[in-house]
Amino acid sequence: MTKGKFITIEGSEGAGKSTNIRFIQEYLLSKNIEFISTREPGGTPIAEKVRDLLLDKSNTNLCDDSELLLMFAARAQHLNELIIPALESGKWVISDRFTDASYAYQGGGRGLSWQKISQLEQWVQGDLRPDGTILLDIPVDIGMERVRERGETDRFEQEQLSFFNRIREAYLKLAWENPNRFYIVDTQPAIEDVHKQLMLIMDQLSAS
Ligand code: TMP
Repeated sequence: MTKGKFITIEGSEGAGKSTNIRFIQEYLLSKNIEFISTREPGGTPIAEKVRDLLLDKSNTNLCDDSELLLMFAARAQHLNELIIPALESGKWVISDRFTDASYAYQGGGRGLSWQKISQLEQWVQGDLRPDGTILLDIPVDIGMERVRERGETDRFEQEQLSFFNRIREAYLKLAWENPNRFYIVDTQPAIEDVHKQLMLIMDQLSAS
């Protein structure tokens, strides 16, 4: 049995993940590729409970180390219960965020050391890394405007602009450091143009 591909979708707030993930799902359906679509933090009942803790804005004094450890606790559950079994059964896994988000948000945003994150990554994932990561990129001010238009914000979305600037920089740094895995997609152009770019990337990933 050939293993499925593990594709992660990343981006700072308001980058257009939901619409573009829908496009990717339609692409896979049109190619008869079996897949599951999931998200982080979350993806399983236990990990979704951890997500609720992490996004709850009444948890104002959650410390940065706890935030990082909870992200990886949710990830361990997600990997063991859902991601690894799906990949081993030959299904593709499309995950709305994964460990790059920990580097970007807890590393870039909160200022935790990359070494700490890398140790947790090694512990929880072993050698498992995404086959492809699509970084949906948008200037922070435009992204945050979109978030404000959506209304209700979570614990992360309430942060200052400088926090999101550090996150975007960290994502771009990760992409530069991992050119074999990352695809950067600028989501400012018209949606049809963004979808054309995504189609080329998906063609490439399904051919490899
Ligand atoms: P979402 O809004 O894209 O569903 O993601 C939930 C929030 O969790 C988002 O603000 C990014 C944040 N996050 C981290 O801070 N670290 C992580 O490792 C992950 C997966 C998400």
